[in-house]
Amino acid sequence: MTRHPFQQMLEARARRLETAAQRWLPSAQTLPARLHEAMRYAVLGGGKRLRPQLVYASGQALGLSVERLDAVALAVELIHAYSLVHDDLPAMDDDDLRRGQPTTHKAFDEATAILAGDALQPLAFEILATDPSIGADAPQRLAMVSRLARAAGSQGMVGGQAVDLQQVGQQPDLDTIDIMHGLKTGRLILAATLLPCDLAGTADTPVGAALETYASRIGLAFQIHDDVLDETAETAVLGKTQGADRAAGKPTYPALMGLDASRQRARELIDAALEALQPFGPDADGLRALAHHMIQRSH
Ligand code: IPE
Ligand code: IPE
Ligand code: MG
Ligand code: MG
Ligand code: MG
Repeated sequence: MTRHPFQQMLEARARRLETAAQRWLPSAQTLPARLHEAMRYAVLGGGKRLRPQLVYASGQALGLSVERLDAVALAVELIHAYSLVHDDLPAMDDDDLRRGQPTTHKAFDEATAILAGDALQPLAFEILATDPSIGADAPQRLAMVSRLARAAGSQGMVGGQAVDLQQVGQQPDLDTIDIMHGLKTGRLILAATLLPCDLAGTADTPVGAALETYASRIGLAFQIHDDVLDETAETAVLGKTQGADRAAGKPTYPALMGLDASRQRARELIDAALEALQPFGPDADGLRALAHHMIQRSH
């Protein structure tokens, strides 16, 4: 069976990401071996690589060569992988299954999982600061390091995770959930989309503004779909335990407004994201396809 061209492109780019990860992740033979093994386990054990795909698609829309994007895509994926390792810890979501495998703290132990997450973060920034293949000057590297740091920190992903935990068992209103989703998931998706702008010099232009609108909308839709899948997808397909959010009293879209309204909201956000891409030509088709993919994926 011939694969759909979009699917083929996703696979080719995922392989590029894998190669970059093999280049940067310390080998499991390098001391401290167990820590490095856990870092590799957290990053190399599958995953849809959607944030890297956004880096590649955004870079394509901006006319950047794919070779310059590999290490940028990897940096974002390392922050994402670390966020998942910590998200699954007993003190947070207490999950045993991730990407169809035992979570890192189950496969290793809690302390090793915490340290593996800790070590993935600075590695992401080292890559942005130094990887020669990015072909960036110092101001461009500084812009990328700053952007990823802000997206990951207390006013970005980690801040969203804090709101998520504060809201367990509460009945947050829609605004609070929007803010929480926008931070915990949206900000890294935004960074993935906008990091190529720092390379292309388009961050503070209408092009950057359009991409920002696009990314904010797909970021929110992505987490709404994640919440919907938590309720509706089977564990075997999802690679995560079905119903974990409800069991934990998590503040989710379906808990607030039900499944149908959640799906509807996600669709509207994707339409709005596509609208933001109107000024772009066919070079942005990858971004358009990814927008649809955000809420059509099965896991
Ligand atoms: C899961 O993200 C965590 C959220 C932010 C919802 P993904 O669904 O992208 O996870 P992987 O990387 O494919 O495993
Ligand atoms: C996680 O949200 C967002 C992160 C920053 C990791 P979830 O807790 O819903 O992610 P999953 O469902 O465990 O992947
Ligand atoms: Mg969580
Ligand atoms: Mg979780
Ligand atoms: Mg979830």
